[in-house]
Amino acid sequence: MKKLYLIGNMKMNMNCAVLEPYFDKIVEIAKNTSNIVGVCVPSVYINMAKYMLDGSKVLFGAQNMYYEDKGAFTGEISSEMLNDFGCDLVIVGHSERRSIFKETDEEINLKVKKALESGITPILCFGESLDQRNKNMAFTIVENQIMKALNDIKSEDIARIIFAYEPVWAIGTGVSATSKQAEEMISFAKRLLKDNYNLSNVIVLYGGSLKSSNAQEILSEKSIDGGLIGGACLDINEFEKIINTKVIE
Ligand code: PGA
Repeated sequence: MKKLYLIGNMKMNMNCAVLEPYFDKIVEIAKNTSNIVGVCVPSVYINMAKYMLDGSKVLFGAQNMYYEDKGAFTGEISSEMLNDFGCDLVIVGHSERRSIFKETDEEINLKVKKALESGITPILCFGESLDQRNKNMAFTIVENQIMKALNDIKSEDIARIIFAYEPVWAIGTGVSATSKQAEEMISFAKRLLKDNYNLSNVIVLYGGSLKSSNAQEILSEKSIDGGLIGGACLDINEFEKIINTKVIE
């Protein structure tokens, strides 16, 4: 069986009342699968995740962090703070952060570096918009995003990153990329990492309207190592079905 990474991105959703039974359940679900399970929660719930998930098989983390260590950065959260609560993961460069909050490739690069330096696994997101895909620019855009995010980072550190291909047009739209489109881009990204950094075992996930009805088909593709799951992770029963996907290697 292929060991799949199935990581939920809760975005700005959930509350304590919902999360309490959710965390209890996901601990049980993770016990009964050989897949790797994780959740990136809103930062105010990291404390709760620490107390409910620490010591279980469920990895947890944040959806963003700042690259400076401390200081006058109102509203921001440092890698040290994430470490204080035992975070395993942090999402970096999600397309919603790039587009709504105007994060640049340079900032994303600094965040990836800081996460690696702090021992937190960055989940580095990349992906083209519909307009870019229609203009046949998808591969150029993806190459650019990846290479800029990895600027000045050593191969051995890049090997510790989890990458996530998330085409913007598939995120939250209900329309995922086809398994072929996802495979095509993820194998391209893997080739890029091989050619530039001599890395052949990098983990690359697919994200964008992944759900129980399309997980089997998409995750069966050769180059796809798992999924970053937004909307479908909010319902624990739906997420459980995705987590229980079995793919023969
Ligand atoms: P979605 O989001 O599954 O709701 O499309 C995925 C993501 O943005 O990580």
